Amino acid sequence: MLIGMFDSGSGGLSVLCACKKAVPYARYLYLDDSAHCPYGNKPEEEIKRIALENARILFDAGCDAIVIACNTATAAAAPLIRKEYPDKVVIGIEPAVRPALGKVKGKILLLATPVTANLRSYPDRVIVGAEETLAAEIEAAYPNASALKALAKKTLAKYSGYEAVVTGCTHYAHLIPYIDAPVFDGAEGVARRLRSVTDKLTGG
Ligand code: DGL
Repeated sequence: MLIGMFDSGSGGLSVLCACKKAVPYARYLYLDDSAHCPYGNKPEEEIKRIALENARILFDAGCDAIVIACNTATAAAAPLIRKEYPDKVVIGIEPAVRPALGKVKGKILLLATPVTANLRSYPDRVIVGAEETLAAEIEAAYPNASALKALAKKTLAKYSGYEAVVTGCTHYAHLIPYIDAPVFDGAEGVARRLRSVTDKLTGG
């Protein structure tokens, strides 16, 4: 079984890692679309066009299912891709806001791209940090640990009053080791979903 994935660069690698652990017997094709990075402050129509083209490339390459390893492309284009490929499995990623609200009593800080922040609505207990440039900065810094640590510090210094952080952009997963608070990330949820889908497809 071949699973396709795409993101605007290295962000989706955290999703790829989680999926490989959950479904180790699959083969994976990762489309690193850093040519279009960042997605998160492009017009919605442009993200739709880019995401649809990436899905086409992956399905044309023989993928049995695709994972949109990007919160922004999921928010903007997942319904469109599913409409275009009604017989295919298309899994998206969403910020793990619900699990965070279930576990944490106080406020949670959602860090996301402007597109993800604006296309969804969030309860009052969520401080929404729409980060204009962070994904592109992480793309440039990855995998330099000290540069990533400095980005985490600079970003979190802007916010206060939260008990936990939701990484609502897959690029931000690269900052998790440097966040001094409980972190909720969507990659594990995607991996569980992929596992249940592949179990069904393979009769496992
Ligand atoms: N990593 C993507 C996300 O999860 C996109 C970041 C970007 O290109 O702005 O939102």
